[in-house]
Amino acid sequence: MQVDDIDRVAVLGAGSMGHGITEVVAIGGYDVVMRDIEQEIVDEGYDDIEWSLQKLSEKGLIDEDPDDVMARVSTAVDLEAAVEDVDLVIEAAPEQMDLKKDIYGDLDEFTPEHAILASNTSSLSITEMASATDRPEQVVGTHFFNPPVKMDLVEVIYGDETSDETAETASQFIESIDKTPIYVKKDVRGFVVNSVLGPFGDEAAWAVSEGDATIEQVDAAMVHQRGYPMGPFELSDMTGIDIGYHVRKEAGQPIPPIVEEKVENDNLGQKTGKGYYEYEDGDGTTYE
Ligand code: 3HC
Repeated sequence: MQVDDIDRVAVLGAGSMGHGITEVVAIGGYDVVMRDIEQEIVDEGYDDIEWSLQKLSEKGLIDEDPDDVMARVSTAVDLEAAVEDVDLVIEAAPEQMDLKKDIYGDLDEFTPEHAILASNTSSLSITEMASATDRPEQVVGTHFFNPPVKMDLVEVIYGDETSDETAETASQFIESIDKTPIYVKKDVRGFVVNSVLGPFGDEAAWAVSEGDATIEQVDAAMVHQRGYPMGPFELSDMTGIDIGYHVRKEAGQPIPPIVEEKVENDNLGQKTGKGYYEYEDGDGTTYE
C-alpha cells in the first residue's frame, strides 16, 4: 500500500500517547478514530486533545481552527467498529506482550486486508506482535515520543518480516504529519532511543533508591550540566512512571525500589497528580 492510499486511521489507546498521536494525525489532515476500552477513558483523551489544540492555536502553532481539526476525530469503544474500514492502525495499548498479541490477533481479523498495523510500543518486539497475525509483512513499529505534538522524532521499526513497502509507507505517512522518521532495522529491545534512555533513567532511579543523590539533585544536574530540557525524574513523571515499570517487568529486570514504591502507591506522575513531584491540575510543578 502507498501513502496516498491512507485516508482513515485508527489509534488504539486514548492515554497520553494515544490521544497525542490521534491529535497529530488529525492535525496532519487524516480522519482518525481513537479507541479505548472504556468510554470514560476515551472522553478524557478527547478532552485532552481539545485542550491541547486550543493551546497550540492560541500560540499560532497550528493554522487550522481547532474545531475543524476536531471534526476529523471520532471515538469508539468497540474494536471491530473502530477498525473495520481503516487503512492504518496505530496501536498504543499498555506495554504487555500478551495483551498486545491478543489485540494483533483481533486486528488481523477485523481490519481490511490491505491495512498496515503499526505499534507505538516503546520497547517490545515488533516481530513477536506480528506473529499473532497472518500479515507479518504489514506490521511495523511507529514509535512516537511524549508529548507527540511537541516531539519531532518517530522511530519506524522493522520486525523480522516487515516488508520494505510497509516500512516506506509508514515512513512517508510520518513525514506527511510533519514528523521526522528514522528507520530502525533491528528489532532490538528499546530500539534506538529507549535502549539509551532506559539505562539513563535506571541509573538515576538506583542512585536515589540507594541514597546516593536526591531526585532534585539528579534532575538539576542533568538540566544545568547536560542542558537537557528536563531531568530523568521529571521526564518519568511526564511519560508515566508505570510505563518504565512495565518495560522493566516485561524484560525481567530488577525494579529500583523508588519506582516500585511509586507504582504501588499509584503515584504515576502528572496523570495522577503526583509522582516524583506533585502537580496542580496535572500541570504546574511543585516540589515534594
Ligand atoms: N499540547 C499543547 N501544549 C502543551 C502540551 C500539549 N500536549 N503539553 C504542554 N503544553 C504547554 C504547557 O501547558 C505550557 O503552556 P504555557 O506556555 O501556556 O504555560 C507549554 O506547553 C510548556 O512550554 P515550555 O516552554 O515550558 O516547554 P517547552 O514547550 O519548551 O518544552 C517539552 C516542553 C517539549 C515537554 C520539553 O520539556 C521537552 O522536550 N522535554 C523532554 C521530552 C522528552 O524527552 N520526551 C521523550 C520522552 S521518552 C518517550 O516518550 C518514549 C516512550 O517510549 C516512553
